[in-house]
Amino acid sequence: MTDKIKALEAEVAAYLITDAATREAFRLKFLAKKGEIMPLFDEFKSLPNEEKRVVGALLNKLKTAAEERFKSSESLSAKAESVDGFDFSRPAVSSFSGSLHPLNQVRSQLIDVFSRLGFEIATGPEIEDDWHNFTALNMPEDHPARDMQDTFFVQTDPAVVLRTHTSPVQIRTMLAQQPPIRIIAPGRVYRCDSDATHSPVFHQIEGLYIAKDVSFADLKQVLFTFVKEIFGEGLGIRFRPSFFPFTEPSAEMDIEWIKNGESSWMEILGCGMIDPNVLRNCGIDPEEYSGYAFGLGVERIAMLKYGIRDIRLFYENDVRFLSQFESGTV
Ligand code: DAH
Repeated sequence: MTDKIKALEAEVAAYLITDAATREAFRLKFLAKKGEIMPLFDEFKSLPNEEKRVVGALLNKLKTAAEERFKSSESLSAKAESVDGFDFSRPAVSSFSGSLHPLNQVRSQLIDVFSRLGFEIATGPEIEDDWHNFTALNMPEDHPARDMQDTFFVQTDPAVVLRTHTSPVQIRTMLAQQPPIRIIAPGRVYRCDSDATHSPVFHQIEGLYIAKDVSFADLKQVLFTFVKEIFGEGLGIRFRPSFFPFTEPSAEMDIEWIKNGESSWMEILGCGMIDPNVLRNCGIDPEEYSGYAFGLGVERIAMLKYGIRDIRLFYENDVRFLSQFESGTV
């Protein structure tokens, strides 16, 4: 019995009490009626008298040691309060961890898809000049296509605009490098628009590919892959003839959307083969090179992907909205 008591003594001393739960486990193991120590007192009663003195002393020492350990870990118990009234055992207030904004998540996903397809990232200024934003893109002054992209002009210098699309990055890239060119240009753009689906400031991603013998089939393949990667397999896709001054032919791409059990088509981007005039404006020979371009709205993609009906939710930064996208660490 002495050996057993000694072993228990060592166990009591080494037992790790780190919180209320381990403290309770300690109590059950050593101090409870059916724990390791109390039954030893029963056993003690049946010992021969000459052993009782020594064993009794050891047993009492063990019990006191266990009780003391238990008492000294009081601050860890859920109920206990320390002298100054602060309960150290209270669970900590968990700190709030932020996450990427849903628009940044979608932007990163888009960049990831196009990077894997070999596109490099290009950037351009948000404060543009009229020539890059309109004229070089085959939209001379007084061209009616400018009406759709009314923007913020600077009063003292009407040639300075907040860019209405990311397409001027096409011009800047073509002026800076010779084909082959394969870039995407993500960025902020500005328009005089404001309602549930339009914001005066929003985000686009422009795509541009110029090389020898580029065809509309190449464009379709890249866009099919993009839709599959972002929205998943099996969505209907269609191209509708459209008009953009800087592409010829031009198209808008729609994806099939199921709304209230009914299928409808949603426009998600504009695209086309680069107009020879645009290539010439940038010193690229249209007889030698051809290319395609596309432009998509990041908000539009995010709204479709997550079923968001009002674009303004993206900019209010209400935590109840943002926290629904918390898992996204891209
Ligand atoms: N820049 C156009 C817009 O904002 C979108 C667009 C259409 C971009 C066709 C393109 C394109 O590159 O080829 O409305």
